Amino acid sequence: MAKQRVLTGITTTGTPHLGNYVGAIRPAIAESQRGEFDAFFFLADYHALIKSHEPAKVHQSSREIAATWLALGLDTDSTTFYRQSDVPEITELSWILTCVCAKGLMNRSHAYKAAVQANEENGDDPDFGVTMGLFSYPILMAADILMFNASKVPVGRDQIQHIEMARDMAQRFNHLYGDTFILPEAVVDDVAVLSGLDGRKMSKSYGNTIPLFLPEKKLQKHINKVKTNLLEPGEPKDPDSSTVFEIWKAFATPAEAVGMRQKFADGIAWGQAKKDLFELINTQLAPARERYEAILADGEFLEAELKKGAEKARAQAAPMLAKVRKAVGLAAFQ
Ligand code: TRP
Repeated sequence: MAKQRVLTGITTTGTPHLGNYVGAIRPAIAESQRGEFDAFFFLADYHALIKSHEPAKVHQSSREIAATWLALGLDTDSTTFYRQSDVPEITELSWILTCVCAKGLMNRSHAYKAAVQANEENGDDPDFGVTMGLFSYPILMAADILMFNASKVPVGRDQIQHIEMARDMAQRFNHLYGDTFILPEAVVDDVAVLSGLDGRKMSKSYGNTIPLFLPEKKLQKHINKVKTNLLEPGEPKDPDSSTVFEIWKAFATPAEAVGMRQKFADGIAWGQAKKDLFELINTQLAPARERYEAILADGEFLEAELKKGAEKARAQAAPMLAKVRKAVGLAAFQ
């Protein structure tokens, strides 16, 4: 039996951080190495244009994200790893889906509604700063998924609605033009949410991240900034309400987690706990960080890897798009 196809996109804004690593990148790469699924991973660079109008940042982020996945051991032969903008079939499909997607469906999109609500709260015009890209981005996302007939889509909780919208669009299309698309399902795994420097969820939008491949000294500085309380050395500390412990647990073996739990009970000083945390993370990440630096500087290698992925993706996308075009009446005259 053919392997199930799993697909997910990474919007290319920002620099990968420990939260991305623990919550998304590490499990995705581990799963791809087990080889149970036919995995598609892509740099969602068209999506980046919705959030950022800064070309240098969009470009740099794509490069960093690609180098990160490659440095961490993604196998680009057994998976399909590509840049969305290298597969023009996707934007073509996006238009065709735009023509079957009800506007009312997009009106209900959380991302759009949140922008409108923020405007209303500020006394601005409801559509202030809202581009058509933001409004209709669930359609582009549906094209990303339906193009490759992906059945499972690993995403964060905030993205579930978009997968449901993709299903809606697929159903609508299938109803109008005959069975064409598989209905995708979201796979949500929210065990691995990591807290950031201030104790809230680690997120670029909170400015509380620890970038994944910081140079050693800077990594140490960031870890020193993780928020703690005022308990003195020797006073017992509660591991379960501590961000230091939470991050420790995300990198430690179960035995190391038990060991640190004991040290907290024994009153380890915050300075020492952070030093231990730095050493744990640094040792684990050092080899990948070295590969990351090398890959980041090697544009030719990055291009070759992504071109390889784009070729594989287009080999799937082209026949699918041909089928879709024919279904809707865009066919050559005989
Ligand atoms: N919108 C997703 C996010 O912000 C990224 C994304 C774009 C994606 N296209 C996708 C995820 C297709 C899964 C499938 O996280």
